[in-house]
Amino acid sequence: MKKVAVNQETEQELFFHNYARLPIAVTHGEGVWLVSDNGTRYLDMISGIGVNALGYGDQRLVEAISTQTSKLIHASNLFMMEPQFELAAKLLSLSGLSKVFFANSGTEAIEAAIKIARKWAGLAGDTDKKEVLSLSNCFHGRTYGAMSLTAKPKYVDGFEPLLAGTGMIAFNDIADLEARVSEKTAAVFIEVVQGEGGIHRVSQSFIDRLKELREQYNFLIIADEIQSGCGRTGTFFSYTPLNADPDLVCLAKPLGGGLPLSAVIGSEKVADVLTYGNHGTTFGGNPVACAAGIAMIKAIEEDNLIKHAVEIGTFIHDAVQKLAAKHPQILEIRQYGLMVGITVDKEAKPYVGKALQKQVLINATSINVIRLLPPLTISKEEAQHCITVLDEIFTEETAEQTKAEASC
Ligand SMILES: Cc1ncc(COP(=O)(O)O)c(C=O)c1O
Repeated sequence: MKKVAVNQETEQELFFHNYARLPIAVTHGEGVWLVSDNGTRYLDMISGIGVNALGYGDQRLVEAISTQTSKLIHASNLFMMEPQFELAAKLLSLSGLSKVFFANSGTEAIEAAIKIARKWAGLAGDTDKKEVLSLSNCFHGRTYGAMSLTAKPKYVDGFEPLLAGTGMIAFNDIADLEARVSEKTAAVFIEVVQGEGGIHRVSQSFIDRLKELREQYNFLIIADEIQSGCGRTGTFFSYTPLNADPDLVCLAKPLGGGLPLSAVIGSEKVADVLTYGNHGTTFGGNPVACAAGIAMIKAIEEDNLIKHAVEIGTFIHDAVQKLAAKHPQILEIRQYGLMVGITVDKEAKPYVGKALQKQVLINATSINVIRLLPPLTISKEEAQHCITVLDEIFTEETAEQTKAEASC
C-alpha cells in the first residue's frame, strides 16, 4: 500500500469535512500524556473525549486485550462468550438492574433504549404512548433517533425530517416538565450531568418531580451515562447521588477501555420487552472489547480511581476558583469528579489552540465552556500543570489586551 502523509493537506483530500482535527498526528500515549509523531508530549485533559479512563499504556488493559485477541477476536452473538457474560454480570451487580444489551457506540445504545421504551409502552396496548422526550441543551448522539433527542441545531440542521414523536423539556424547568409529560409519554431521557452541553447537572428537585410524574403517567426514565458514567463523576453512575432510579441506563465511552463498546442496562420492568430477532448487532459485545471492559472496571476498583477522581476533581475546582479571583475571564466552574466545565466570558475555542501551543489538550464545548475530562489516573502534579498553563494563558491574554488598548 502507498505510504500516505499524515498532515492537514492529505486530511482535506481524504476525508469528509465533518471533523476539526487538531494539527498534530499522535502516535502513542504514556500515562496521561499523548505523544505526537515528532516526539512532543501533550498533557491529555480530554482523554479521547472521555474514553481513556486509565490513561495510556495500562498493562492490565493491554494484557487483557492481547490475551483475548490471541484466543478469539470475533464470533458474533450467534454464540455465548465468557467475556460478555462476565461483563454483563458485573454491570448488573453495579447497577442493581436486570438485563444487559451490548452495542458498539453511545448512539447505538441510545437507539436501543428508544426501541425498548417504545415497545414497552406499546405492550400495554396503547398505540398512542410513543412519545420520547429529552432535556434542552442535551446531547445523545448522531443517528436518527439519538439526533432527534439532541438539542443543538448544529447537529440536526439539514438532516430533517427527524424521528416523529420526540420532544424536549426545558432543562431543570419543573413547570415545563409538568406541562410536557402525559399519558402519551413513553420515556424521558436525561444526562444527569450534561457533557456536550457544558457540564450542567440536573437538579435534585427536577429528578424528584420526574419520578413522581413517572408514577402518575407510567413512563420510563432513561439515564444517558455515556459520558458521565463509569466513575467519572465520583460514583460509578452519575445518577446515584440524586437517586434518579432509572429504568434504563446507557453506557459507552470508557466502557470498552478504548475499544468500541456500549451497553443498555434495564430494570425488571423492561426485562422481557425484547424478544428473539427484535434487535441486534453483528459486533456489539465483541469479546475483545468486553475483556477490555472487565479489565477497565477491575483497574478502577483496584486503584480506587473513583475516590481519586473526587480528590483530583476537587483540587482542580479549588485551583480554578483561585484563578477566577485573578482572571476576570473565568466566570464559573462546575465540577463533578473529573467532569469539569469552566465558563469563560468569550468563545472558548481559541483557548484550545493556546493550550495546544503549551502542550496541553483541552476541549471547548457549548460555545463558552472549557471542558476537562482527564483520565481518572491523573496525579495532582499533572492536574497542577494544567492549572499553571491555564494561568499563563489568561495572564498572557490580559497582557496582550492591555498592550493593544495602550497602543490605541
Ligand atoms: C452523553 C452522550 N450521549 C451519547 C453520545 C454519543 O456517543 P457516541 O459518540 O459513542 O455515539 C455522547 C458522545 O459524546 C455523549 O456524550
